[in-house]
Amino acid sequence: MASDKVFIFDTSLRDGEQVPGCKLKREEKVEIARQLEILGVDIIEAGFPISSPGDFQSVMEIAKAVKSPTVCGLSRAIEKDIKTAAEALQYAKRPRIHTGIGTSESHIKYKLQSTQEKIYERAVAAVKYAKSFVEDVEFYAEDAGRTDNVYLAKVIEAVIAAGATVVNIPDTTGYCLPEEYGAKIQFLMENVSNIHKATISTHCHNDLGLATANSIAGVQAGARQIECTINGIGERAGNTSLEEVVMIMNQHPYLDLYTDINTKLLTETSHLVSERMGMPVQANKAIVGANAFAHSSGIHQDGVIKRRDTYEIIDPLEVGVDHSKIVLTARSGRAALAYRYKNIGFDLTKDELDRIYIEFLKVADAKKEVNDEDLNEIIKHERKQVA
Ligand code: KIV
Ligand code: ZN
Repeated sequence: MASDKVFIFDTSLRDGEQVPGCKLKREEKVEIARQLEILGVDIIEAGFPISSPGDFQSVMEIAKAVKSPTVCGLSRAIEKDIKTAAEALQYAKRPRIHTGIGTSESHIKYKLQSTQEKIYERAVAAVKYAKSFVEDVEFYAEDAGRTDNVYLAKVIEAVIAAGATVVNIPDTTGYCLPEEYGAKIQFLMENVSNIHKATISTHCHNDLGLATANSIAGVQAGARQIECTINGIGERAGNTSLEEVVMIMNQHPYLDLYTDINTKLLTETSHLVSERMGMPVQANKAIVGANAFAHSSGIHQDGVIKRRDTYEIIDPLEVGVDHSKIVLTARSGRAALAYRYKNIGFDLTKDELDRIYIEFLKVADAKKEVNDEDLNEIIKHERKQVA
């Protein structure tokens, strides 16, 4: 058993729901939150209560509906936001307010039109105010990925002194390289005197396709919470994908990290989120894509039929998929064809297989994929010829 737990903070219902055109109904949000609870998520970010009355109600309903996970509400570093988040969370068994402000030069100068000193003060004041409502307060330093490390460390030290229990270091724009992001977390570990009093959280966006790699670099450097979404949904190119980071920690024991996620529920959770949001999952998506355990080239099929782990690093059962798929295309060989025939009840002799293979290739060249119906047709035709 790995020694250190990494907390899984799911933000599918907040950052994930910011996908254009993917608005969820309240009942759907509650349904997803219940599924996340069964999945074993530690923290559910249920929404941004000040953003709309609908979001406020959803956070409240989710807070009532789930028992084990912490329920979190987002706020800006503004009193009205924080108070509203506290109200929405009033029925949560374990409430958390997630408050914060931009800390990069770009955010301070252009978005907030402020100064580093004033932002530092607002950050501390926001955490103190949130602390007057709940014990568990998470602070986010928005655009931390592009924030100067020395200034970031100063802000993080001050918010921990003000009572922050978790400090979130978002790579808001998905800009960092893994080694850069890992070094940022390490810098905080080494230069924030009270860092042991809080948990460092990663929150990475996928603009350069590095969200998962950056989150893993973050936990390797000492972060112990990952913020992520099912199927990697989220603003622009999305957030870190929950299923990817969880399976990376599972498959690499030397990382010595574990999560409480029941991985066997990953596929069904992915389907639920995809269906409710009307957002299809790309077929080649790691872990949960339709092709994640499908083999179509003859060389791979031959290997997998002989022994699954020749071409699969994850047993599909581990993530709730009942078997690997041998897809028959013009690239498939005799081994795959015999295997698929066996699955539908035909044990072919070598001669029969050789003859059928020629017919099979004709059909495969004409079609993208040969299915069981085609196989039945081919064998019927072949046996008629021989009789
Ligand atoms: O990406 C980001 O910086 C965020 C914060 C609001 C946590 O989503
Ligand atoms: Zn985000």
